[in-house]
Amino acid sequence: MNKAYRKAVIAGNWKMNKTPREAAALIEEMKPLVCNAGCDVVLCVPYVDIAAAVETAKGSNIKIGAENVHFKASGAYTGEVSAQMLVESGVEYVVIGHSERRTYFGETDQTVNLRTLAALEAGLTAIVCVGETLEQRELGYTETLLKYQTKMALTNVKPEQLKNVIIAYEPVWAIGTGVTATADQADEGNGYVRAAVAEAYGEAAAKALTVQYGGSMNAGNAAELLAKENVDGGLIGGASLKAPDFAAIVDAASK
Ligand code: 13P
Repeated sequence: MNKAYRKAVIAGNWKMNKTPREAAALIEEMKPLVCNAGCDVVLCVPYVDIAAAVETAKGSNIKIGAENVHFKASGAYTGEVSAQMLVESGVEYVVIGHSERRTYFGETDQTVNLRTLAALEAGLTAIVCVGETLEQRELGYTETLLKYQTKMALTNVKPEQLKNVIIAYEPVWAIGTGVTATADQADEGNGYVRAAVAEAYGEAAAKALTVQYGGSMNAGNAAELLAKENVDGGLIGGASLKAPDFAAIVDAASK
């Protein structure tokens, strides 16, 4: 495996934070701090913030993502947003299958797969989240579960579409808890994801896949996590809501 072969991607996931006005202000603050990034920089924002975020990020190296996407192209799905709507709004990335959606909104491996296919079909880059709960880890299911979730999410994804797939390993017990996986645990989890892709698509595809770590990554621990062979970037929650903290993580990924 050769890390230099892969693109480092630092993505913020704002979750249900920031109004459009606040989004524009935060992106203005971030722009000069990340303009020399040696990695890709993405901010995934609430749907209603997309217009302001795209407008504010215009001409900068910050790309805008959404936090979910529906799997149908159109129709009677009240409250949902299609991939084409996102594309036309200037969105380039979309988070799919975040554990908060799996836990609170009935997201399943099946719907994660359908959303991934819809996103890829529309030309979006899918940031697909996988991760085990503490109970699953303690029972010794981490490897089996991560490989299963990864393969399920990628069912019917064509090999040539993998260039638009990022997998984010986010241990559920590390999200928003302040408890970060150790660098070795992150490397191991990301390694299981990569191994699943190798089993399904071959070594070359696995080698080229960007696998992020997410879960309480912050300015203080990012460098150690990102130094690991299998950690190609981060999906950042809380620390992406503060410009200096997010910029410090981008710096750590740029070295
Ligand atoms: P925190 O960085 O707040 O732990 O959130 C991680 C996450 O869920 C990113 O998607």
